[in-house]
Amino acid sequence: MASTETLRHKATRLSGADGVHQAAALLRNGGLVAFPTETVYGLGALAADGVAVARIYDAKGRPSFNPLIVHLPDLSAVRRVAHLGPEAEKLAHAFWPGPMTLVLPLLPDAGIATLVTAGLETVAVRVPAAPLAQALLNEVGAPVAAPSANPSGRISATRADHVLTMMGDRIDAVLDGGPCDVGLESTILRPDPCVLLREGGLPAEDVERVIGRVLPQDLTPGQVQAPGQLSSHYAPASPVTLNREAARSDAVYIGFGGRQGDLTLSEAGDLVQAAATLFDALHQADALAHDTGRTRIDVAPIPDVGLGRAINDRLRRAAAPRS
Ligand code: TXA
Ligand code: MG
Repeated sequence: MASTETLRHKATRLSGADGVHQAAALLRNGGLVAFPTETVYGLGALAADGVAVARIYDAKGRPSFNPLIVHLPDLSAVRRVAHLGPEAEKLAHAFWPGPMTLVLPLLPDAGIATLVTAGLETVAVRVPAAPLAQALLNEVGAPVAAPSANPSGRISATRADHVLTMMGDRIDAVLDGGPCDVGLESTILRPDPCVLLREGGLPAEDVERVIGRVLPQDLTPGQVQAPGQLSSHYAPASPVTLNREAARSDAVYIGFGGRQGDLTLSEAGDLVQAAATLFDALHQADALAHDTGRTRIDVAPIPDVGLGRAINDRLRRAAAPRS
């Protein structure tokens, strides 16, 4: 648990090679460090350190049954914590490093705190591509557990400033790598046979090209699902409405393609650019609504193909009634 002492601390902003050294040292000493991946910023702690992992849940205010993704620098490091079946091997070779997480059988001697997996026999693993994430994971030399660096239920962070604003008083440091390239969380797959647990930065169409059919999320009772059963997730403070052809007078409008707004996800109607901009636009729209006395956020329609499916998934959760 974070002590009151820790809570009063303002997180340090770290950058460059020196920042990587300091971030690695903090992690090795049980600290909480937010770091950039190409998807979103993660809130890292040593996966072997149960107390540090508990501080992640505390900082996020996250329900403790929700397991975390373990981040590793390469496939050989993944092999030390999880078993890869034939499909997992194919996926790993095709898409790592990159915006994909695999849920795999946990090896008994993996040295991962049970809190990371919430006591499951599977572990979610990911090899991120972002250079600072690679540098950090190589220097730490041990698995790093990291959920997205946002309070539970709030929008993920795609810039160091988002992390500092939302969680600066609850963590030790943030490694600033500028804006995230992909901007959406990783696609989560459970292979052998391949089930799509969460749409994300790797389009399902790309996965299908490599291994054939991807099964939709299986809703077997008792199975832990990726975020999704929590219908309100990724929520800005203001209520959000999707598929608005135009803005209402009391709304901040997020445009796309030909539809201009206060902000736009991509003027060119480019889904890759829209994904990279999405969370930043929601953070900005929230601030703008607050500053201009508007009470809602309206979003232009986004085509439901490729990355558009993950974008619409996040927007639907942002728009869901709050629990
Ligand atoms: O892009 C991302 O995936 C970012 C970066 C930081 O890597 N991380 C991220 O983590 O989005 P998080 O904690 O916000 O979402 C990961 C989800 C969890 O909510 C959980 O539902 C699912 O992964 N998960 C983790 N372990 C699992 C397991 N063993 N079985 C099924 N789902 C699991
Ligand atoms: Mg998250």
